[in-house]
Amino acid sequence: MRRTPFSPSFWRSPLRGPWFTSVLGVVLLVGITVLFVTGLLSYAAYNPDLSPVNDKTPDKGLLGFYLFSWPTDPHWLYRLTQGVHVTLGITLIPVLLAKLWSVVPKLFTLPPARSVTHALERLSLLLLVGGGLFEFVTGVLNVQLDYIFPGSFYPLHFYGAWVFFGAFLAHAVLKMPTAWRNLRQLREERNDLVSVNPDPPTVSRRGALGLVGGGSLLLFGTTVGQGFDGLRWSAVLAPHGADPGSGPGGFQINKTAAYAGVTAADRSEEAWRLVVRGRTGTVRLSRAELLQLPLHSSSLPIACVEGWSTSDQWWRGVRLRDLAALVGYDGDPPDVFVQSLQRHGAFRRAALRANQVADPRSLLALFVNGEPLTPDHGHPARIIVPAAPGVLNTKWVAELTFGDL
Ligand code: HEM
Repeated sequence: MRRTPFSPSFWRSPLRGPWFTSVLGVVLLVGITVLFVTGLLSYAAYNPDLSPVNDKTPDKGLLGFYLFSWPTDPHWLYRLTQGVHVTLGITLIPVLLAKLWSVVPKLFTLPPARSVTHALERLSLLLLVGGGLFEFVTGVLNVQLDYIFPGSFYPLHFYGAWVFFGAFLAHAVLKMPTAWRNLRQLREERNDLVSVNPDPPTVSRRGALGLVGGGSLLLFGTTVGQGFDGLRWSAVLAPHGADPGSGPGGFQINKTAAYAGVTAADRSEEAWRLVVRGRTGTVRLSRAELLQLPLHSSSLPIACVEGWSTSDQWWRGVRLRDLAALVGYDGDPPDVFVQSLQRHGAFRRAALRANQVADPRSLLALFVNGEPLTPDHGHPARIIVPAAPGVLNTKWVAELTFGDL
């Protein structure tokens, strides 16, 4: 008689067992918790409660309870949190798949529900497995720039995270006592994960864990380099390519001027004027006039929401707080609403909070690494703020409106 997944004898691998599953479970307990926390921090770094332009998940309601004013120190904060989020997410894929493989027989055990609690546990397993796959798949598609999601990535990944982590937490609380007991036992005890008629082993359980670890190491080694200029060549999975060119402008970008629809005419000395609005009215400044204002330098990275980042670059320009002072905010810089010349793509507009405007390292940059900005780095002028996600460091700035948002 043909065996089906519903009959225990269908599952022949001698590797499955509570010890094997528990080791993977404990690794995921730590890894997924870090993923959830760094993900929530990614959302907080947008300062979504400052302005609707920063908020891609406006209907979050109570799920935004944890939000706070994103700091400007340490200046590498978002580079670290989002670098960890994406690199760890990708590194954990072999562990997640091995864990799902190790428990797949459980999904086919009959009867589907022996009691109400058993039914609830199985439902949480469906949310756990479905939510986990959903979060990893949407995350990977996002960083590979494959926006094939059924809707906007932000709410999908954000709400998916809460569903997944809720189910994950329930599962961890239910299962952790058993997992600890399993880990302390050297020998597998019999349960519905252990095959009733296993095939002869081709690799030991430790060997199989070694393979999973090797897969994670490979993914780690081909991803982490996207966070360090000197290692970018090793990030072979990174969609933006490994060579951002050389010279002062030879560091990673996301959107080119051409992609953003910003033409040379828009950026020309004749046409471009920075419009600064505030308490005392509006000021229009050419690039030449901006160069007459006090210029300052700061050494700051670009840290992208996709997880890649550059090393610190040397920016030079006018402090945002000095521009705020031009329109009546001398000494008490407010929030600022920034608009770009950009015609295409998300984040043509962004808002910065007063603490970001007040930071002396926050600039309207005109130069980088000793040279005028290149068109793809945002010439004539771009925003650069410590610890902020790349999307809030607006390029090709056209207007700054200072005032409490
Ligand atoms: C391979 C796995 C993953 C990758 C590559 C990934 C990637 C990303 C990226 C690129 C963002 C920023 C999106 C943006 O602001 O444009 C993000 C945000 C986020 N991630 Fe993930 N993620 C992964 C797994 C997870 C998991 C497992 C969780 C939950 C446990 C999670 C929770 C979040 C949250 C809450 C956000 C904030 C969403 C927002 O800004 O609206 N992620 N993730």
